[in-house]
Amino acid sequence: MTESSSGEPIAPFDPTADDHEYLATAAGGLAPLVARELEGFGALDLREDRAGIHFRADLATLYRCLLGSRVASRILLPLARFDEPDGDACYVASRTLHWPALFGLNATFAVDVTGKSSHIGHTHFAGVRVKDGIADAFRDATGERPDVDAADPDVRVLLQLQGRQAQVSLDLGNGGLHRRGYRGSGGDAPLRENLAAALLMRAGWPEHLETHPDAQFLDPFCGSGTLVIEAALMATHTAPGLLREGFRPHGWSGHDAGLWDRCVAEARDAVRAWDGPALLGSDRDRGAVAA
Ligand SMILES: C[S@@+](CC[C@H](N)C(=O)[O-])C[C@H]1O[C@@H](n2cnc3c(N)ncnc32)[C@H](O)[C@@H]1O
Repeated sequence: MTESSSGEPIAPFDPTADDHEYLATAAGGLAPLVARELEGFGALDLREDRAGIHFRADLATLYRCLLGSRVASRILLPLARFDEPDGDACYVASRTLHWPALFGLNATFAVDVTGKSSHIGHTHFAGVRVKDGIADAFRDATGERPDVDAADPDVRVLLQLQGRQAQVSLDLGNGGLHRRGYRGSGGDAPLRENLAAALLMRAGWPEHLETHPDAQFLDPFCGSGTLVIEAALMATHTAPGLLREGFRPHGWSGHDAGLWDRCVAEARDAVRAWDGPALLGSDRDRGAVAA
């Protein structure tokens, strides 16, 4: 077990295990919606704390969550938790992990940082220390280190700073899951895609669709149309992950490309044509509508 000075220790990733514990993060107040989604995909042993919703899942269930969750912010494989996250602690926590078991030398990686801590002046610096720990752990084990690709990495590592505590994880969705891929330039104040989905769920749109096959939808201040698009994705049972071009956790050694393809095919099969009335949006800002 990887010992941590706060919370439960995290077991090292075991690629031969049938299931693992993952963590879904959610924007404030949205954890119950995310938990309901995860349960619907078959996730087990859900437990919520300030970091998000911890759950157990086999690989197929994890893939269904990654492809299908409309509300989760990120889905993570937690690797280490530690206290007092100054630069040295970030380096040590990262350096002591067995990174070569998580991804190969040929995979590029990047480190994202979220949150803040009084122990760290610049979050960018904390990310650099985690990156140094990864590079040195690889050098020790193999004599070489993988390259960094900040823009489009094969593997994304996330450092979450939460006051006096911190956590290092693999970010299996390779960034925020709200980035569905349909957003161009989003107008003045575009709503985050997963927040729009959460609003629609709270408003009962998915249930309304079941009871009213002729459901009507109008957003008269639609901006670039996030609510209308999310409403349409729900009406057509389209998993949001299907829209993300090239989306798959391919750099991670736990990834099973064949199983991923089967889960994508299953999600595609679930898509239904919408034969109800048009889902409508309008706005006085032509630029936003064009976007
Ligand atoms: C916060 S934005 C909506 C953002 C949108 N939900 C999205 O995700 O892009 C509010 C929108 O209301 C529109 N709006 C404000 N007053 C309006 C009016 N009287 N008639 C039509 N649209 C209006 C603005 O042009 C703006 O696009």
